[in-house]
Amino acid sequence: MRSLVSLSHRRARPALQRFRQLSTNAVGGSSKSSPIGWPSLLLALGLGSFGLGYYLREKDKAREKVVKGSSKTIGKALLGGPFVLVDHNGQVQSEKTMFPPGNDRFALFYFGFTNCPDICPSEMVKISSVIRKVDGLGAEFENKLFPVFITVDPRRDGVEHLKHYIKDFHPRTVGLTGTPQQVAEVCKSYRVYHVPQKVEDDTEDYLVDHSIVIYLLSPQGVFLDFFTQLTEPEEITERIKQRMLNWTPEDDLPPGAPEEAAGAADVPAADAPPAAGAPSAATGATVEK
Ligand code: NI
Repeated sequence: MRSLVSLSHRRARPALQRFRQLSTNAVGGSSKSSPIGWPSLLLALGLGSFGLGYYLREKDKAREKVVKGSSKTIGKALLGGPFVLVDHNGQVQSEKTMFPPGNDRFALFYFGFTNCPDICPSEMVKISSVIRKVDGLGAEFENKLFPVFITVDPRRDGVEHLKHYIKDFHPRTVGLTGTPQQVAEVCKSYRVYHVPQKVEDDTEDYLVDHSIVIYLLSPQGVFLDFFTQLTEPEEITERIKQRMLNWTPEDDLPPGAPEEAAGAADVPAADAPPAAGAPSAATGATVEK
């Protein structure tokens, strides 16, 4: 069992500026543009703690079920599922087109936004490095893994924008966007929360607070493992290698299979994003093995 690490990020706004905003709100300032005030900060921390406690209790329940052997697929099929999006070439993509029958390539899904100043680019660089490492493991691993960048900011990240953005990363990278509704749905099924942090009402210059997780999917699009910002490329590569060596098509439970329903009921509902700034306790609820 691995411990849960929840991470999210927003712009690395200068600390002094942030402190000033907090101070303004603390004395009753009515600055609508401030993203957070003391009361909401405390509320967010409280909700975060509550969410984590809830998650831990639910995880204990899930572990009990595994021990009792009543739910052998608890670690699978609880994340992901059908989606419809558009790739960086303007082609409609779904789980069926990206993971067709007979497909032998695994995927790394990462959710972010192209205006992200620091963490998304560095995570994408990390993913590119992992792809090269896996390619280098030997002929049987070569070209068996491709990265997918899914925007959480469809308002700004259109097809052309994505096409330009992914050029900086591994050439096999696929960029995906969609309507706000389509993006909201895929984020929901992958337990990715994303909250725009509008600085001013009428500006296009805003950030999106979002989960930072890399998901490994099987050649049939089934969730196998996840990695956080803290997981080093070497460890990611090793875990992917083991997953690839151990994987057989029979292991996969297609998304939407009947067995999914039984396990899914035990996972804390994560579709409602936590309060802005609160840690997401939901991601990783399915790693029991
Ligand atoms: Ni980001």
